[in-house]
Amino acid sequence: MTTSAEPVRPGPLAARPVVHPSAPAAPRLLRLPGVYRPQEDTALLTAAIGDLAIPSGARALDLCTGTGAQAITLARRGAATVLAVDLSRRALVSARLNALVRQVAVRPCQGGLTRALEEGPFDIVVANPPYVPSPAPAIRSTRGWDAGPDGRAVLDPLCAAAGSLLRPGGTLLLVQSAMSDVDKSRELLAARGLRTSVARRARIPFGPVLSGRTEFLEAAGLIEPGRRWEELVVLRADR
Ligand SMILES: C[S@@+](CC[C@H](N)C(=O)[O-])C[C@H]1O[C@@H](n2cnc3c(N)ncnc32)[C@H](O)[C@@H]1O
Repeated sequence: MTTSAEPVRPGPLAARPVVHPSAPAAPRLLRLPGVYRPQEDTALLTAAIGDLAIPSGARALDLCTGTGAQAITLARRGAATVLAVDLSRRALVSARLNALVRQVAVRPCQGGLTRALEEGPFDIVVANPPYVPSPAPAIRSTRGWDAGPDGRAVLDPLCAAAGSLLRPGGTLLLVQSAMSDVDKSRELLAARGLRTSVARRARIPFGPVLSGRTEFLEAAGLIEPGRRWEELVVLRADR
């Protein structure tokens, strides 16, 4: 939900009909201070993982793992190995604790895309990266969601590298806001030979972060004047 006083990542602008009009409830997980609180995008990506056929022996990657929600789901769904990557040490401790409590095997790994590429390729890659358009560059306290003026600071390199992260036959699930240009993600993925589709969508009201930057979003043309909701999109890309 986006009612907490704690900063919550903003949501989309798409005016298109939504497939899933509301997001599923966010999972409850242990979380050290400063680690991204599981919310609608967490739940939407987790639900999309539930729709995947996980091949036996699959190597899986949860990039930008946070509390490890998706990594745990991948392990529960039968992935043979799950690598959970995040820049934040506190996130990795949280993910490790959450996996331990649930008695699933998840390997935490500090780093970003470069580290993931070194560890790859994978059969399944899932990512809930920072994607919120922000007037200023991300700082440590906003690194969980802020992603530069167009929201694509992490999305662009991730989409460009997706083909190398995946084994032939592999699948990527990526959640982002419609404000951060879903078409550009699809173009970048398609340019690497991946077949893209929309796995899930949900429309959610603005939380505190987006509500605090509506002037910027409107001036940048990222939302229509007066719009106070966003659309989340889970993209699927198959190699
Ligand atoms: C939106 S949160 C998602 C957390 C979790 N997967 C979820 O769905 O709740 C994004 C996470 O990515 C991490 N992060 C930010 N930039 C990153 C990067 N370039 N590489 C890896 N992790 C990054 C942040 O520390 C944060 O934990």
